[in-house]
Amino acid sequence: MKELIPIKKSHIMLYNDFSLYYISKDGEPLLYKATDKKLDREMLEKNQYPQFFISKDDEASILKKLQSVLNIKLAKAISSKGVKAIKQGLCQIVEEALQGPLEISLFSLPETIEILFYGVKKNSDLLHAIAAMNSNSTKIIEHSVNVLALTSQYCFFKKYSDDEIKRFALCALLHDIGTSHIDKNIIETDEKLTDKEYAILKTHTIKGYRDMRLYPSFDKSISLTILEHHELLDGSGYPNGIKNISFEAQVIGLIDSYEPLKYRNKKFRAVLEPYDALQIIKTDVLQGKYNKQVFVDLCSCLIK
Ligand SMILES: [Fe+2]
Ligand SMILES: [Fe+2]
Repeated sequence: MKELIPIKKSHIMLYNDFSLYYISKDGEPLLYKATDKKLDREMLEKNQYPQFFISKDDEASILKKLQSVLNIKLAKAISSKGVKAIKQGLCQIVEEALQGPLEISLFSLPETIEILFYGVKKNSDLLHAIAAMNSNSTKIIEHSVNVLALTSQYCFFKKYSDDEIKRFALCALLHDIGTSHIDKNIIETDEKLTDKEYAILKTHTIKGYRDMRLYPSFDKSISLTILEHHELLDGSGYPNGIKNISFEAQVIGLIDSYEPLKYRNKKFRAVLEPYDALQIIKTDVLQGKYNKQVFVDLCSCLIK
């Protein structure tokens, strides 16, 4: 029997060219439409249809199609400069990337970065607006997009070359890719984590690194950022407690600790203004946990 995967209703129009299945009252998986048949428009308009499934064999080609549709949508949002649409577009892309097979996302995310890059090159203030806009996505997706926006803002501020900015942006977008292996309740909670939950959360670095290492054609700085973004320069970080941390991981690690202070409300503390969030991080910088120069540059970049 074919292995089936449920589809999201919001994506149904993408499935016109693929076989769709449904589950009968007796729990039998049955073919609803073959590849050459089209979806019934009236049924779609009335929004009256059962939960459809696709075959696992079609997953990769569907995801490819989905990512390219989402990239086109993002390009349109950028050309119309709708910050909300841009943020939502990016969040949708990251959501699919975190769920789907990594090999597909890896080949469409550089295109996403390319689209974003040419959109914001003329107006890097747009990055600030993207981070500030709430998109109602899950917290990990919103966080990944915000870290991408802030990292790009930092790189533009530092006048890095186009290729450097795109490489840093990809590192930022993928830094928490290992969280796809972690229980959603641990990732999404606003409560303080128990020691056991925190120990589970910490494994996202190694898990993401192992995933990424399967694709050696990608720049090594991406897998190193995934592995090292929670390491600290005084050796008190995780997973390995190393002091010799890649530069990309130092930058993204610092932005990674700033982002939730500024943008994520928790039950035990409200979001902070940039100055107050940076004051908290300053204590860690003075203790030798973060790169001082990167911190100074980030402050200048965020508080203009
Ligand atoms: Fe992380
Ligand atoms: Fe993170």
